[in-house]
Amino acid sequence: MATTPRIRALLSRLWQEHASPARLGAAMGVGVVVGCSPFFGLHLPLGLGLALLLRLNKLAVVLGSQISIPPLAPFLGFASVQLGARILEGRFLTLGAADFTLARIPELLGTFFLSWLLGGLLVGLALALPIGLATALVVRLRRGPASPDPWRAELAAALARYREAPRGHRGYLRFKLPMDPVYRLVCEGLGRVETVVDLGTGLAPLPILLAQRGQARRAIGIEWDAAKAASARRAAAGLEAVEIREGDARSAELPEADAVLLIDLLHYYPLEEQRALLARAAAALRPGGRLAVRETVREGRSGLTRLLEGIAVALRWNKGPGLRYLTTAELRGELEQLGLRCEEPSGASSSLHKGNVLLWARAGSA
Ligand SMILES: C[S@@+](CC[C@H](N)C(=O)[O-])C[C@H]1O[C@@H](n2cnc3c(N)ncnc32)[C@H](O)[C@@H]1O
Repeated sequence: MATTPRIRALLSRLWQEHASPARLGAAMGVGVVVGCSPFFGLHLPLGLGLALLLRLNKLAVVLGSQISIPPLAPFLGFASVQLGARILEGRFLTLGAADFTLARIPELLGTFFLSWLLGGLLVGLALALPIGLATALVVRLRRGPASPDPWRAELAAALARYREAPRGHRGYLRFKLPMDPVYRLVCEGLGRVETVVDLGTGLAPLPILLAQRGQARRAIGIEWDAAKAASARRAAAGLEAVEIREGDARSAELPEADAVLLIDLLHYYPLEEQRALLARAAAALRPGGRLAVRETVREGRSGLTRLLEGIAVALRWNKGPGLRYLTTAELRGELEQLGLRCEEPSGASSSLHKGNVLLWARAGSA
């Protein structure tokens, strides 16, 4: 490939990264704050570092940081130093914008660095907000109305069922349902079934979604946390297919099922108990039935997810006796030991939940 097309391809790829209107607006805003800082000569690496850290569009951050090129630079420097001096020393300085020439920048930085740093941050934030909002708005207008996502409506309808749930339960789902792709993946991967059992169902988002979408004649959720089971039951009122049972997934009686779901359940248990849970789930499957197992795995970029789960367990939000993560290969091995055949759809992790896998494992037909 010739150099120019190659550069064009690279720029186009960079422009498409993290390119929702909101994220592009945020990227421009971050760039503006960087550009207003007194770290001349370092704006580019600083901007790129922040873009990587915050997963923002690198081009938009770099573009935003260009705010400090002439002819704006003297005015930004002047405003920043004056504002910083006013806050730190309680007075304005006898300096004008004309003093902020390129040649005098090293000297001015040496004398007024702290004022510049503080004032630059405040000036940067004040400019970042309108510039970021304007960027998001322009991008949105240029792209035209987004095509409606039917899945959004499904999630909104499910969420509305929790309006009488305790605020913590409702708030958790408001955040979790749109952010975690597993609900969509399970619903789309399952198709229509007669009976599905969801072990460790929590607030039962999956039984409710499956019943709401008419995908299951019976959707049974088993949960041992009494408060969650009560919220789930209330939310499922009127959905005849849903049945919430308060009990221990390791010992509760399981009906014969076309699918058994274990979504973020196994890792609370030592290996022997994980094996036993998988074995009893597999034993409940009809011929040709499937297990859906979503787990955070030990390898890959799962550190943040594991940290968040550690906190959730310590706070007793998720009730489980411990934490023991498998690797994907180990999990697959356990399922195959039970005579199941594994398939793995892509997209089981989200931006928030790195290191998750969703395995579908099918029992043999009779
Ligand atoms: C991380 S949450 C996942 C909830 C749900 N599967 C979802 O995806 O939204 C795990 C849930 O499993 C429940 N749980 C853990 N061990 C259990 C057990 N032995 N029997 C029933 N529920 C259990 C916890 O109380 C918690 O609500």
